[in-house]
Amino acid sequence: MNDSKERIAAELLAVRDRSLAYTEAEDDLLVRQHSPLMSPLVWDLAHVGNYEELWVLRAAAGIEPIRPEIDDIYDAFKHPRKDRPTLPLLSPVEARRYIEGVRGRVLDVLDAIDLEGADPLHRDGFVFGLVIQHEHQHDETMLATLQLSGQPGLVREGDLPQGRGGGPEEVYVPAGSFMMGTATLPWAYDNERPAHQVDLPAYWIDRLPVGNRAYAAFIEEGGYDDPRWWSAEGWQWRQRSGVTAPLFWARDGDGWWRRRFGRTEPVPMDEPVQHVSWYEADAYARWAGKRLPTEAEWEKACGWDPRARRARRYPWGEEAPDPTRANLGHRAARPAPLGAYPAGASAYGAEQMVGDVWEWTGSWFQPYPGFRAFPYKEYSEVFFGQEYRVLRGGSWAADPAAVRTTFRNWDYPIRRQIFTGFRCARSELV
Ligand code: AVJ
Ligand code: FE
Repeated sequence: MNDSKERIAAELLAVRDRSLAYTEAEDDLLVRQHSPLMSPLVWDLAHVGNYEELWVLRAAAGIEPIRPEIDDIYDAFKHPRKDRPTLPLLSPVEARRYIEGVRGRVLDVLDAIDLEGADPLHRDGFVFGLVIQHEHQHDETMLATLQLSGQPGLVREGDLPQGRGGGPEEVYVPAGSFMMGTATLPWAYDNERPAHQVDLPAYWIDRLPVGNRAYAAFIEEGGYDDPRWWSAEGWQWRQRSGVTAPLFWARDGDGWWRRRFGRTEPVPMDEPVQHVSWYEADAYARWAGKRLPTEAEWEKACGWDPRARRARRYPWGEEAPDPTRANLGHRAARPAPLGAYPAGASAYGAEQMVGDVWEWTGSWFQPYPGFRAFPYKEYSEVFFGQEYRVLRGGSWAADPAAVRTTFRNWDYPIRRQIFTGFRCARSELV
């Protein structure tokens, strides 16, 4: 195998090790539904194998279905998450056997395929990138399920760098155009294309994500009880939900505690806040005299190199993420402290834009001008509109293979179980 085939094989192996590690628990934990927001873990496990069968074996290689009768069960559009426990799911043992069988044939396809072929699914291993990123995304979803379950385990405590104080609160991004999206990254999704020029007025963006200390001050100062800070819809959600703090937080006397993978611990005040909805992020920003960055503002501050006049793959440049630059890949089951990654700064000096927490932006999930669905409408296109808000950057639970400055994630504005925080921005006062 040549270099890139070896790399693809290594990525396939790594993501499968990850999925299997998350589904080692006893069967009961895997088949149970921990929250109506989430699938049973065993659904995610077989679904990634079914997706791999559909795309690599059937679509890219023309191989006959292995188990066509299960396609319906693992079609995310046919059955909403809340209904999935009632489906005739493969048992954990059957699911593991099924995905292993698929994987064996996938490696044969990889061996035989021409990565320079004309088929866009084959070229540069696109279809392998599709399934590798898909499985990592489901792995992150499984972690959110496990966190919701309150079960212990998976609290990895890998070393994270220390935080550092000082430094400016905001960085300045001068007016000017930049190239948003990508024309060149081979494993980018359809929603990241085409690259297109966007002209922005000058703005300030927070150097760091909003931290727990600042967020707790918003709570202490009555932020949740003051409709001035909330959008009309956000205020309705606030009242109906009764929410008064980030998900998994509880007050104890004067202090805040949080539940994290089955443990209860004091909220570390120097970490980025996570588990807040878009509505909470939007309200905090207004309270702080700011607003959420638009998606374009976020991407320019993260990825644009104004001197070279080109987009970077990562905030710091082209080199692959490493532990000195970003907190990715579930090394520790938490965001790193604020200021932990000076070496990961963007050209404009923004830090921790990739890794730690996904960041809500002020933008709806919409197509870029000239968008074309590839390879199927249900990856991105069916979600476009004014229903989902864009998330950027990637959390501590995101894998480097599924993170880049152009990557777009999205979710409903009420969602809080995902590993999401935010940073603020403001327009330059003229
Ligand atoms: C891009 C994370 C919103 O989880 O719904 C998984 C990714 N697409 N299976 C999701 C996805 C199909 C998607 N997000
Ligand atoms: Fe999926």
